[in-house]
Order: sequence, then structure tokens, then C-alpha cells
Amino acid sequence: MAKERIGIMGGTFNPIHQGHVAMAQAAIHAADLDRVLFIPDGQPPHKKDIAPAEDRWRMVCAAISEDKRLEPCRIELDREGTTYTLDTLTQLGKLYPKASFFYIIGEDTLLQLKNWHCIEKVLPLCSFLICPRSGSARPAEIDAERRRLNAMGGRFLTVEMEGIDVSSTELRTALARGASTPLLHYAVREYALIRGLYGDARALPKAADWMEKLFLALTRKRFVHTLGVCCSARHLARRHGLDETATVTAALLHDCTKCMPLKEMQRIAIEHRLTEDKSILASGALLHAVTGSWVAEHEYGVRDRAILEAIATHTTGKPGMSRLDMAVYLADKIEPGRPDYPLLTRVRRVADASLEQAMLLSLAGTIGYVRQDGKPLHPQTLHTLDWLQSMIEVHSGRTSADHQNKKEDT
Ligand SMILES: [Fe+2]
Ligand SMILES: [Fe+2]
Repeated sequence: MAKERIGIMGGTFNPIHQGHVAMAQAAIHAADLDRVLFIPDGQPPHKKDIAPAEDRWRMVCAAISEDKRLEPCRIELDREGTTYTLDTLTQLGKLYPKASFFYIIGEDTLLQLKNWHCIEKVLPLCSFLICPRSGSARPAEIDAERRRLNAMGGRFLTVEMEGIDVSSTELRTALARGASTPLLHYAVREYALIRGLYGDARALPKAADWMEKLFLALTRKRFVHTLGVCCSARHLARRHGLDETATVTAALLHDCTKCMPLKEMQRIAIEHRLTEDKSILASGALLHAVTGSWVAEHEYGVRDRAILEAIATHTTGKPGMSRLDMAVYLADKIEPGRPDYPLLTRVRRVADASLEQAMLLSLAGTIGYVRQDGKPLHPQTLHTLDWLQSMIEVHSGRTSADHQNKKEDT
């Protein structure tokens, strides 16, 4: 059997950005790697203003979740004391005795290799894949250093890729200023904002505790979805003048019980008399909204009834629902991780202009899909649709009546 070829991406990832992901993907292509391990450093003693290790770990998990060839690895986070690459490679060699290792680095790191602890012992343990930085200023110096390390037994391969001009320092500054960060995965940006990791004022006060709980309670995929919903909810809150903190809080906790076994949800619902509706009790897809609201109140400590109501109504909607409820309902449908299809594109566009119209469009679409699949539809969804239709008719009737009155006045 051919030896497994494992790439290694080490770093503080403070925060992880698309440049790191692009380097790993280009390295897979260049060296025919089977997978790449992303290994965040533990808490380095010489770097003070670095985000806590567990936050960097969760951001790495979120950023690479969409590519199965990329895997987060805790080997350095779980090791006590100073982190040396030599120890990491030795440990990896024991874990994967039949693998070849390829350490992925940027050109700038090549110039630093001479300072690595016991580099002469590191060189035989892995090959190095060198990724270009855009606008590298020192090609002669890099060539000379590469030749010198070659003579010591170092093995190097240059990865052909477009150099990406991005640094974590610039991204931290952009986050602190509230500027856009197109080179951050949306889930990483949202995580950093909600935690206030880089001095952003939009942090949720209890986010440290909440993120820890959610990361444990949800699958990686559901965690990334949750951050996507926060991202869309924040956008809708700003667009429509809603309370941003309340909307993002409801989005963050909307699926907090979604990965619970159905039996556990049913136990909570029955024990606390949350619903007697048999069709809701029988379906995890509906029940998690009801139990999520209860858990948000009793285990996450949310007291704001408007937030709890938005969590409770995010699956079926309800007649008379508030605009905060609508923003969370819609954010769940349109978050950036949802695969594109024609209705979604329309709902996204309409949601920017009118929450009510977007709700109408989304609900009608959902009802159509559910009926097409022959699945049961909860009556509350139909009642919500009726309510929205009559509300919009009354509103547009009023608008045209006002318009008519004005015409008659003049
Ligand atoms: Fe949900
Ligand atoms: Fe959701």
C-alpha cells in the first residue's frame, strides 16, 4: 500500500484566514497529499495579545469544515510547555508510523527555519512545501537559504500558487475597526465579532461561556451553520433597524438543542410542559425550537422574552410574529452556507427590502416544497402564511387608499 502523504499547517491562526486554506489546498495539489492537518499552537509565552487557544481552535474548525481533506489537530494545544516542531513531528511519526510528512510554510518562514529548535533534527522528519508570498522582496536571500538547508539534508518543493496578500495582523485591525474582511470565512468573522476577540465592541457579554457550550452541544456543521445564521441576522438587523444584540443572540442560540437526541428533547418538553402538540413532540425538526427556547433561558441565562420567542418560532413562524422573529426565521433560511437555489436567491434579495415580503416568499416556497415531498405540514406554518397575506393586503390596501385620499385632497 502506498504511504499516506500528510501535510502539516502549523501556526497561531490568530485568526485563521483564507490565505491559510488556499496554501493547504495548493499544497495538496502540488504534492499529491492525502490530507492536511491544521495544528494551532498552544498559548505561546512570547505573544501576549493573542486570542485564547480554544477560541483559535474553534475558528480553525469552522474555517476548514467544508473541505474533508483538511483536518484540525489538537496535538500542540494539548501538550504542556513550549511548543517545538521537533516534538510535534516526533509525536505525529508515532501516531502515523506509515506516513510521509510535508510541512507547509510561506517563503518568509523559510528564512526563519535556521532559528527553529534543533532544525538539523527536524529536516530528516519532513519535506517542506514552500508557498510564495505576493510581492516577496528577498528572492536572492530565499534561494541562498534554501541551498544552505539543502546541503544539510533539507527537502524542499515550491508550490505553484497565486501569492495571497493577507496577514492576520491586518485582519485583526479590520475587525477592530468594523471594516469588511473578505479574506475571513464568514463563520470566523462572526465568531471573532461575537467573542470580541480583537477589540470589537459588538461582543456579546456571555459569549465565552456560550461558545464553549455550543461547540460541545453541536456538530461542527451545525456550529458553522449557527455562525452563518448570526452573520445573516446581523445584516438584517442593521438593514431594518432592529436591536442587533438581541437579533444576533437569538440567532446564536436558535439551534442550541438541534443536535440533542429526540428522546432528550421530548423529556425536556414533557417535564416542563412546553407543548402538548403531538406533531411537534414527535418531530425533532420542530421540537428543537421549543426546547431551544427553554434551554436558552434556563441553561444559557437569557431573560429577554423577545429573544426566547424568536428562538421558539424559528421553525413554523406564528401569526403576529415580531420583526425580530422574522429576521431570525429568515436568517436561518438564507445564511451564507445554504446551497444556492432560485428561491433562496430571491428571498435573499427581497429580505433586504422587506422582512414581511421575504417571509411570505419563503413560507410559500417551504409549503410548496413540503407538499411536493408529501411530508406533513404543521398547521401553524399555514396560519402564519394566512396572517402574513392578510397583513400585507391590509397594508397595501391602506397604502393605495392613502394614495387615493392624497390625490383627492389635491
Ligand atoms: Fe432550527
Ligand atoms: Fe438553523
